[in-house]
Amino acid sequence: MGNGSGAMFFARWLRDPRGVGSVIPSGRELAHAMARPAADAYRTPILELGGGTGTVTEAILECGLDPHDLIVLERDLQLHRHLEAKFPSVRVVRGDAARSHRVIEALGVAQVGAVVSSLPLLSMPLLTRRRILGSAFRCLGPGGFFVQFTYGPNSPIPERMQKSLGIQGRPIDRVWRNVPPATVWKYERVPTPA
Ligand SMILES: C[S@@+](CC[C@H](N)C(=O)[O-])C[C@H]1O[C@@H](n2cnc3c(N)ncnc32)[C@H](O)[C@@H]1O
Repeated sequence: MGNGSGAMFFARWLRDPRGVGSVIPSGRELAHAMARPAADAYRTPILELGGGTGTVTEAILECGLDPHDLIVLERDLQLHRHLEAKFPSVRVVRGDAARSHRVIEALGVAQVGAVVSSLPLLSMPLLTRRRILGSAFRCLGPGGFFVQFTYGPNSPIPERMQKSLGIQGRPIDRVWRNVPPATVWKYERVPTPA
């Protein structure tokens, strides 16, 4: 990430601290910890939520994903423009993660293999989190999963919400060298008994 990205991110944070969720973009090590599981997804495309300045986008591409197999959703107008210019071969869409199933539908995509989210879930009301997760799991085909990082000590999706959505999460990575240290969680559908 160049200094320009950091300055732009800070400017967006000043305008909307809760929506952007962090003063600085995700660090490189965290971005790679988020990207690695996506590289193992059983199918493409991969959907990234809250692309921001593109640190995680870049890491996903560095893991070898074809840019045409990546869809990035970003709500902020300026960050969306920045992502479009930086990743011309990636489908970058301006929109709300609570409607991501509509976004992929409009692109003619039936299912995605993984959703990688940098959204500031902890600063969102529970109902918004639920809508975002519900919509993401509507995008995910069988075996698909949702990856999310958090600066908090617990799952950013409360147990009760996981149960009601029929999903379960577990921490898969801890990135101590990020500022602040972050945990990466992976959420999957609870298998239904045969
Ligand atoms: C913590 S920042 C992303 C950090 C990003 N990985 C980076 O390194 O720049 C969260 C991003 O989510 C976006 N965002 C927040 N709520 C959103 C929503 N409902 N739909 C789509 N994007 C959203 C913000 O505009 C912001 O760019």
